[in-house]
Amino acid sequence: MILITGASSGLGAALAKRYADQGEQVMISGRNQARLAGVAQASTNLHPLAADLCDEQGVATLLDTLATMSGGAALDTVIHCAGSGYFGPIAEQQADEIHKLMQNNVTSSILLVRELVKRYQDTPLHLVVVMSTAAQQPKAGESTYCAAKWAVRGFIESVRLELKGKPMKIIAVYPGGMDTGFWPSSGKSLDTSSFMSADEAAEMLQGALKATAHGHIADITIARG
Ligand SMILES: NC(=O)c1ccc[n+]([C@@H]2O[C@H](COP(=O)([O-])OP(=O)(O)OC[C@H]3O[C@@H](n4cnc5c(N)ncnc54)[C@H](OP(=O)(O)O)[C@@H]3O)[C@@H](O)[C@H]2O)c1
Repeated sequence: MILITGASSGLGAALAKRYADQGEQVMISGRNQARLAGVAQASTNLHPLAADLCDEQGVATLLDTLATMSGGAALDTVIHCAGSGYFGPIAEQQADEIHKLMQNNVTSSILLVRELVKRYQDTPLHLVVVMSTAAQQPKAGESTYCAAKWAVRGFIESVRLELKGKPMKIIAVYPGGMDTGFWPSSGKSLDTSSFMSADEAAEMLQGALKATAHGHIADITIARG
């Protein structure tokens, strides 16, 4: 069984549909119930579970519900796609938007990963954390977004060290630009027609996530262009 966060749109929704088409049972999560229900219509293998990952209780309830709904099936993969963007020259950025950005990217990742480690560190769970090429390099006009994604990278690299020798593995993913609702919702207007579609990025990621009995690809950069 697979849990995909940020699955009410974009990369998460595209991945969810691909896995469901291949017969996997996929729990899809996001805050917007209507959008989640829309995604779930694509397959009876898709099961919507709404949750705000910035809320500690929301994360715990999501994982409790998932365990109840699974009917004993083991959770083998979590793909954490939830996140949001906010851009612009630093002098023009608004404090409330910066706070939201940190919550949706950093707090959500920390609360989800903490709860997953508590529950699953001794099981062979693959936890895939989707960040961005903005976690690998500085970008003018994206300072707080880079700060958020670099923070997530520092966090998961550190948790990886804590999990050394355990069956639970963390896989780091760094996608470049994708043509999704991320850009309009971030408030940044730009031409994304040459960016990867969510489905193209999902296809590449799904290929890279194929593990063997004794190995897995630990760090994945999906470059655009
Ligand atoms: N698009 C790009 O160019 C690009 C490039 C590199 C990396 N990324 C990263 O890739 C990931 C997926 O991006 P995308 O392009 O697919 O964006 P998207 O279409 O905007 O999807 C983002 C998802 O995150 C969910 N989400 C946001 N905050 C949440 C919260 N607090 N709790 C639960 N769910 C939350 C949203 O659902 P609800 O609104 O329903 O909660 C939505 O399903 C993000 O982490 C993004 O930063 C995007």
